[in-house]
Amino acid sequence: MVSMVGLVVCCMFVPLVLGDWADTAVGYEHPVWNLTDNQPKDGSYQVRRYAPCHWVTTNVTAWTWDEAGGTGFKRLFAYINGDNNRGVKIDMTVPVVVKITSNPCVFCQNVYTVYFYIPQLYQANPPTPTDPSVKVKFLDKPWVEYARRFTGFAEGMDPFVETNQLWSDMERNGVNCTKIFDSYMYMASFDSPFKMFHRHNEVVDDQTDCPSRD
Ligand SMILES: *[C@@H]1O[C@H](CO)[C@@H](O)[C@H](O)[C@H]1NC(C)=O
Ligand SMILES: *[C@@H]1O[C@H](CO)[C@@H](O)[C@H](O)[C@H]1NC(C)=O
Ligand SMILES: *[C@@H]1O[C@H](CO)[C@@H](O)[C@H](O)[C@H]1NC(C)=O
Repeated sequence: MVSMVGLVVCCMFVPLVLGDWADTAVGYEHPVWNLTDNQPKDGSYQVRRYAPCHWVTTNVTAWTWDEAGGTGFKRLFAYINGDNNRGVKIDMTVPVVVKITSNPCVFCQNVYTVYFYIPQLYQANPPTPTDPSVKVKFLDKPWVEYARRFTGFAEGMDPFVETNQLWSDMERNGVNCTKIFDSYMYMASFDSPFKMFHRHNEVVDDQTDCPSRD
């Protein structure tokens, strides 16, 4: 499955070149953000403010987030490739996001939500998906994200390990997140499976009820 997704993505993502931490993929649209005033002193993550915007999403029942990401990618890619009420092709954007919630039990499947950002050209009026398992979602309020970047091929437990690191970095920097440790996280992937070096992944927390100690 991963290799199938790879075949679909390769031609679109190969030219993708990434700058440093602050940049995202050159040549691919991404949601815009501003850095907030309360960046961590040690630079271990970014605090970003996003404006309201549309995403296209699908829920996938799967054993793992990687598997859900592959299945969700195919559905959302079909949507941008023309499976929509206007039959239009929509440019790929970055990142591909998987929302990971805590598993209801140790050995069972879970529901994951996979997201693509809708590019500017269609933001005001996104086409309707023809696949009933795919929906356009409008995030109608500005929101804040805590984003930790990491590199390499993200798989298996990586989002959990990286999110734990993000949370402890947030705590060390004075953000009290005790109550969110058990709820959910986002895994954001910026590269195709064929990109070997300088891969750009992020884990993200958007739970803004996480109060600041100062
Ligand atoms: C970022 O800041 C600019 C300039 O203040 C503002 O116009 C824009 O709406 C802000 N965008 C977000 C996502 O907050
Ligand atoms: C995914 O599940 C959530 C929670 O049940 C629901 O609110 C949302 O509409 C679902 N999204 C899609 C695309 O079906
Ligand atoms: C962090 O939040 C928890 C739960 O809201 C609270 O019990 C605890 O006192 C807080 N810790 C600090 C250092 O603010």
